[in-house]
Amino acid sequence: MKSGIFYLTIGSLLSVAAGTAAPYEKYGAPKKAMYACNYQLSSTATWCSADIDQTTCYCSNPYALSSVAGCYSYAGRNTTKNYKVLIEACSEVNVTLTMDQLEQAYVNYTKNAKSPADIEGFNATEVVEVPIKLQDNVTDLYMRAYDVFLDNYDFSLYYGSGLLGYWCLVFVLAAICNWSKILFPGLFKSLTGPFSTLVRKHITMPATFNNRKTHEFTFLKFFQILIPSRLETLIISGFVILTIALSATRIYYIEGDPLFESRKIAISRYIADRTGILATNLTPLLILFAGRNNFLQWVTRWNFATFITYHKWVARITFILVLIHAVGFTIDLGSYYSEDVKDLYLIMGIVATVGGGIILFQGLLYLRRSWYEFFLLTHIVLAVLWIAGGWLHVVDLGYIHWFYAAAAVWVFDRAVRIGRLIVFGFPRSTVSLLADETLKVDIPKPAHWKSVPGGHAFIHFLRPSCFWQSHPFTFTESYEQKDTITLYCKVKGGVTHGLYQYLATHPGKTTQIRVAVEGPYGEPTAAYRYDSAIFIAGGNGIPGIFSEAVSIASRSRENTKQTIKLFWIVREYKSLLWFYDELRQLKNSKIQTTIFITKPDSQRHLDDFKQKDFENYNSDKIYKESEEKKDHTSVKVESNSENEDEASSTTDIINTIHEELDHINFKMGRPTMEELVGEEIKESTGSVAFVACGHPIMLDDLRSSVVKNLDNKEKKRIEFFEQLQVWA
Ligand SMILES: Cc1cc2nc3c(=O)[nH]c(=O)nc-3n(C[C@H](O)[C@H](O)[C@H](O)COP(=O)(O)OP(=O)(O)OC[C@H]3O[C@@H](n4cnc5c(N)ncnc54)[C@H](O)[C@@H]3O)c2cc1C
Ligand SMILES: NC(=O)c1ccc[n+]([C@@H]2O[C@H](COP(=O)([O-])OP(=O)(O)OC[C@H]3O[C@@H](n4cnc5c(N)ncnc54)[C@H](OP(=O)(O)O)[C@@H]3O)[C@@H](O)[C@H]2O)c1
Ligand SMILES: *[C@@H]1O[C@H](CO)[C@@H](O)[C@H](O)[C@H]1NC(C)=O
Ligand SMILES: *[C@@H]1O[C@H](CO)[C@@H](O)[C@H](O)[C@H]1NC(C)=O
Ligand SMILES: *[C@@H]1O[C@H](CO)[C@@H](O)[C@H](O)[C@H]1NC(C)=O
Ligand SMILES: *[C@@H]1O[C@H](CO)[C@@H](O)[C@H](O)[C@H]1NC(C)=O
Ligand SMILES: *[C@@H]1O[C@H](CO)[C@@H](O)[C@H](O)[C@H]1NC(C)=O
Repeated sequence: MKSGIFYLTIGSLLSVAAGTAAPYEKYGAPKKAMYACNYQLSSTATWCSADIDQTTCYCSNPYALSSVAGCYSYAGRNTTKNYKVLIEACSEVNVTLTMDQLEQAYVNYTKNAKSPADIEGFNATEVVEVPIKLQDNVTDLYMRAYDVFLDNYDFSLYYGSGLLGYWCLVFVLAAICNWSKILFPGLFKSLTGPFSTLVRKHITMPATFNNRKTHEFTFLKFFQILIPSRLETLIISGFVILTIALSATRIYYIEGDPLFESRKIAISRYIADRTGILATNLTPLLILFAGRNNFLQWVTRWNFATFITYHKWVARITFILVLIHAVGFTIDLGSYYSEDVKDLYLIMGIVATVGGGIILFQGLLYLRRSWYEFFLLTHIVLAVLWIAGGWLHVVDLGYIHWFYAAAAVWVFDRAVRIGRLIVFGFPRSTVSLLADETLKVDIPKPAHWKSVPGGHAFIHFLRPSCFWQSHPFTFTESYEQKDTITLYCKVKGGVTHGLYQYLATHPGKTTQIRVAVEGPYGEPTAAYRYDSAIFIAGGNGIPGIFSEAVSIASRSRENTKQTIKLFWIVREYKSLLWFYDELRQLKNSKIQTTIFITKPDSQRHLDDFKQKDFENYNSDKIYKESEEKKDHTSVKVESNSENEDEASSTTDIINTIHEELDHINFKMGRPTMEELVGEEIKESTGSVAFVACGHPIMLDDLRSSVVKNLDNKEKKRIEFFEQLQVWA
């Protein structure tokens, strides 16, 4: 009941003092004095009839005002600063007061004030015409009760800034580390001492456990989770611990608290206020993390997937805070709940909480993987509920600005995305299906649109069945045509499969499709700063890896000391088809290329190579030559009697490939990352950077091999740049 009355008092004062949608105003000493005295006086005596509102009464009734001045004089609260705030509150109800009047009121108090005990027939609810003297010990109690209650609002904002400050610190450190790899390469290369190695080996580089980072853990069949890297886990743990600490500091109960019925209710309220405010403060951050155009990606050189990891964790923590907030307030409202729940602000709070709760489950990896578009749509709808619900929940409480920020961040991201689409234009692309597994998409780009080596773009295929979907693909700059970028999209189950079926109906399995492109996103790595840059790609991971390797090679043409190697691991020969022209281009480059073919016996779709117009395709000649040379790369092809012709023709094709790509070293079978890493480190003359994209398990293998080799005997600086981004 007490809290109910209190709520009305604070509510009316707040809305009078602040008006709607006003920014948060710090309570501080002046408002604590004002609210404490108002509440204590109003529960002690009455000076005006019920039709006059309390603030007007206290500002204008001389006895009430004297009593206020008396209350303020306790513990030296009658300072000019505090009085100014009181004068302002009175001016809000059109009562003009001056400092002199307040001083005079205090003089009147000292002369005339009486304790209720000294007034005959005193009744707290009946109007008196005398200043009332308060009991010091009670005044003290009210003062301390308001200290903990109202300070909590002020401090919660400081603590919220503390949480944001934590992330700032993380970003600054990340920026220093990641940018100095580019700006001061020498410094980092020399950091191979025992301490830095220890830190990198155990903290900054490995997966959290089991060498798994990009590859998910699965339990109970449908529960899949991606465990962040160890560094990410530490950063998140730090955040969790800090959040718990800041949710609990300076929360304590004042024995006999006049504001709350019991310790339980008081503590619930304090924690509810704290967690609600912290959650409000975190909301813009978690929206920022989720955006494609997050400036922090540039600052920290962390990619989108890393920010999505943080987005998920900040979101989870924020939701837990909101849940605690909701439970705390339910306890605090007690029997008033059923009444208050009719209020819009409470309904909206519930809407946001329920929306946030559903997000936690609809965002599960299994659902994202299985129905990405459904995930995305519901995610957006629920996120809108979170922001809109939160917005209307706090609009009158002084916290609306965090929701302005959250909405602004989101709108900004969307606006930039639309801007990028428009800047690119909506050209017609040529889409062809190659080797029955990959869609090659050639897109004419505007001349001013700069492509980024290793960068990616999001593409919309403007067909009625899928134009709204935007999918990320790495691009390379086309060799054949100027101002054209090429994407190589592996056929999977969604849009890519739709296109696969669509193309199957076209002659030559190629057609023109209008596209919208949003990009470029992503950045090249710092690999060009290392003595050896080793690029490793698996399957369709090649385009980004290739374009970065080529870009470094053209940069370091004069740098004879720098070694650039490219490893590509593919399953079958047919996969070479769609990247064949690029592989040919490597002929005169300094890149040393090795291709591993893990299933060399498979000859599916080899005939498609004939459309490639091998430069000097002459099966007889080449076949003989290679026989004579007993070329180590020449491959035994199982021939069965039925189609010997076909078998020999595929052998021809394979041999022709080896001929044409004689600048490339072919190896059959699957490499182990451990051996590959060990060998490359041994061969390198100095620092080594591994840049990789491909199958998640392969990347996790690579990461752990690099970690194992950090403390190599020769003290070579080893770096690992993961170009695979897993966010779905
Ligand atoms: C930065 C980046 C670069 C990529 N570059 C290439 C590339 O060069 N070549 C290539 O073949 N693949 C690339 N991929 C993977 C590619 O985005 C997906 O294979 C493609 O979106 C699948 O489309 P779908 O509808 O056919 O897939 P589905 O069969 O519907 O889904 C297959 C998988 O792709 C995920 N996925 C689906 N839609 C999206 C989306 N819009 N955003 C993110 N993930 C999604 C799903 O969660 C699922 O795990 C890249 C991914 C990322 C994140
Ligand atoms: N930035 C990005 O996020 C990005 C960019 C481009 C592509 N992609 C995605 O990356 C994926 C990779 O391409 P993919 O599906 O074509 O690859 P894949 O076919 O699954 O694998 C390609 C090759 O890698 C080998 N391999 C797998 N695990 C290995 C390991 N642990 N060690 C050594 N070799 C291993 C395979 O050998 P086996 O035959 O023996 O299995 C196979 O030959 C695609 O799904 C693509 O969409 C992502
Ligand atoms: C102080 O008291 C006198 C009467 O004693 C009264 O006239 C005057 O208005 C009072 N002033 C204030 C500010 O309360
Ligand atoms: C403030 O209160 C003290 C007593 O606590 C008193 O001595 C002083 O005069 C008061 N000042 C004003 C401006 O009323
Ligand atoms: C104060 O005065 C203004 C203008 O005279 C009026 O609009 C407003 O309603 C008044 N406020 C109160 C609380 O009486
Ligand atoms: C005080 O006055 C109210 C009416 O204004 C009355 O209902 C109440 O009983 C009185 N209390 C005491 C203790 O006399
Ligand atoms: C204040 O002191 C009086 C006695 O001086 C005592 O009766 C009363 O209970 C005390 N009140 C509080 C809240 O401590």
